[in-house]
Amino acid sequence: MMCADTAPGVRFRLLQAQTAALPHEVPPPFDPFDKLRAGRLRMYSGREIVCRPGQHLAPRPRDPASTAIMSAEPNESCRVGRLGGIVSQAAQKTLDGRANMPVNFLPAPGTAIEDFETPALVVDLDVAEMNLRKMQSFADKHGMGLRPHSKTHKSPYWAHKQLDAGAIGITCSKVGEAEVLVDGGVREVLIANEIVGTKKIARLAALERRANVAVAVDNAENVRELSDAAEAIGVKIGVLVDVNVRIARCGVEPGEPATTLAKVVDGLTGLRFDGLMGYEGHVTAGEEEKRQIVAEAMDKFKYAKDEVESAGLQVQVMSAGGTSTYMETAKIDHVTEIQCGSYIFMDGKYLDEMSDFDLALTVVSTVISRPTPERAILDIGRKSMNAETGLPRVVSPTGATLVGLNEEHGILELEDEAQGLRIGDQVRLLPMTAATTINIHDFYFCVRNGILEEVVPVAARGRFW
Ligand SMILES: Cc1ncc(COP(=O)(O)O)c(C=O)c1O
Repeated sequence: MMCADTAPGVRFRLLQAQTAALPHEVPPPFDPFDKLRAGRLRMYSGREIVCRPGQHLAPRPRDPASTAIMSAEPNESCRVGRLGGIVSQAAQKTLDGRANMPVNFLPAPGTAIEDFETPALVVDLDVAEMNLRKMQSFADKHGMGLRPHSKTHKSPYWAHKQLDAGAIGITCSKVGEAEVLVDGGVREVLIANEIVGTKKIARLAALERRANVAVAVDNAENVRELSDAAEAIGVKIGVLVDVNVRIARCGVEPGEPATTLAKVVDGLTGLRFDGLMGYEGHVTAGEEEKRQIVAEAMDKFKYAKDEVESAGLQVQVMSAGGTSTYMETAKIDHVTEIQCGSYIFMDGKYLDEMSDFDLALTVVSTVISRPTPERAILDIGRKSMNAETGLPRVVSPTGATLVGLNEEHGILELEDEAQGLRIGDQVRLLPMTAATTINIHDFYFCVRNGILEEVVPVAARGRFW
């Protein structure tokens, strides 16, 4: 055993590594914010962390098997509250391996957007909450389950808002994302993607101890590996057979291939055959054409279901749909749930196509240089905003257009009153694709009426493994 006092404020006691095997009992639900309320944290790795009064911890476990919290002893002297103050750099360093992260810039609740450090990912809570209520009430009206895709928000915080509004569970793409959701207390998770490789499959099976996790499959060998891993630790993994109904990505063909695979799943003791997934993909088209495209895809999906049922299997779940198709897919009788994701915040790509939901997310940046009356330079770049689907658009001020994006510089062309922009002024931008911009940020700055309510970690950022 080794003891070490590191940076002021946080004492680490490094016990012998115990990362090899997780204990068999179910770990307590983990919400990153719960740690803020605890004075002493014991990790599965054996490490103990004691935080000093007044300190906040905002850890993001790198590997739940080694950094998940095993127990937490509340400590009266430890500051209780939400993120919004100083986060210990030493804790951050130890917990997620990113040394010297300058996190003490975080504004406290009550701060106006104008006083944020930028670039900042800002969410208008009223709009995001309205979007999620709108989608939920549409689903409810059509007797449809809603299992929102978290690929956009990558955070248990938003997942809980969706569940509180009535969602039946949360969808994600990766085991790492599922781990963050489950660590954050989400108990119904669908990984709408194929999970391959011994280690990832073992992690997926381990999650079954703490939550109901289902996964998409399209290959018999993969299915056997999933079953073996589940059997080895005495759990059953839920499975949806992924059917190619339109986009020719993953998925088996409807008919004989889907039915054969469903039978393999059903015959394995480590798995539970739940049903089928038939994601029809993003559809950009006018109303009538969209209706036809969705109907065609969902006909194939129905055929897959009928065939599987003719083989004597029960298909309980028929999961499909996205933000571009929900209005059609949700009306199809044989679909049981939709998996929309982008509707929560919207982005330039979606706003160009539809007005059903409003823009909730912008990136706020600051003018750092005014080389000429017609040109201003912003502190955003390709490291803080995605541009592969198009340059971000300026939301305010009017008269400013983003014409270039380097790694750390955004180049604005200014007309009319925008020429009054001065160094230090803020400019709000709309990402063309929200998901890939969110994934490069550490925090959401959630505001109401322009005032910070909460700082929320993008907890599953970078968890694409
Ligand atoms: C499997 C799956 N389901 C659902 C979605 C829906 O996403 P969105 O609502 O953001 O279009 C996606 C998007 O990539 C997806 O891959």
